[in-house]
Amino acid sequence: MAEKKTRKIGGFNHILYQPAQFSSREMVQRSADFYNFANRRRSVRHFSSRPVPREIIENIIKTAGTAPSGANKQPWTFCLVGKPELKEKIRKAAEKEEYESYTTRMSPEWLDDLKKIGTDWHKPYLETAPWLIAVFRRIYEVGKSGQKKNNYYVSESVGLACGMLLMAIQQAGLVALTHTPSPMTFLGEILERPANERPFLLIPVGFPADETYVPDIQRKRLEEICVVYE
Ligand SMILES: Cc1cc2nc3c(=O)[nH]c(=O)nc-3n(C[C@H](O)[C@H](O)[C@H](O)COP(=O)(O)O)c2cc1C
Repeated sequence: MAEKKTRKIGGFNHILYQPAQFSSREMVQRSADFYNFANRRRSVRHFSSRPVPREIIENIIKTAGTAPSGANKQPWTFCLVGKPELKEKIRKAAEKEEYESYTTRMSPEWLDDLKKIGTDWHKPYLETAPWLIAVFRRIYEVGKSGQKKNNYYVSESVGLACGMLLMAIQQAGLVALTHTPSPMTFLGEILERPANERPFLLIPVGFPADETYVPDIQRKRLEEICVVYE
């Protein structure tokens, strides 16, 4: 393999970036193809119990770990839960919170918005899906002598990593749900996470159940989400 070209900048090593090289026509095609691929992603709430090899999920998590992050702190932990007893505990705790949310915490407007999605407090997929990925944001790191070290733009960084995680799940031919059974403090307790980690998302991953239906939602048009200054 060719040796990496390096240069010292500000006293630190930098490596020559190798840009991808496509023709304009290829770039138009590739960007359109990727949009069509991304547009097929849907949140799925009915999972098959068909097993998924751990290696696939680990590759997906490695992809999420390539996300950009504030000052490259990579302030995320992905807990991969396949153990049935833990999934059962997580389901029970999530359903307890979701029951409270649906019956006492959510506003009438929120409940109305959720009607078309068709969700309620039952979360059987937290046990059916072969894997749950519990994503934690690391609000600080702990140095060797126990001192707190700052992380920056933690939510933005972890949100980006989760976006990449979802696309990697789709690329592997699997489905997922972005789930937030709030408050999610139970996740840190059940998974015995350290004090510097806060739950961010709970993502069941696997194959869809046979004949899975998803809400017939519309995505906003380009004109609604993009303002051009050219
Ligand atoms: C931050 C966030 C939290 C969400 N929380 C839940 C949730 O707790 N339960 C659920 O069923 N869906 C949840 N969703 C999924 C959304 O309902 C879904 O993304 C939206 O309806 C669009 O559908 P699509 O993902 O199929 O495009 C959440 C999505 C996001 C981005």
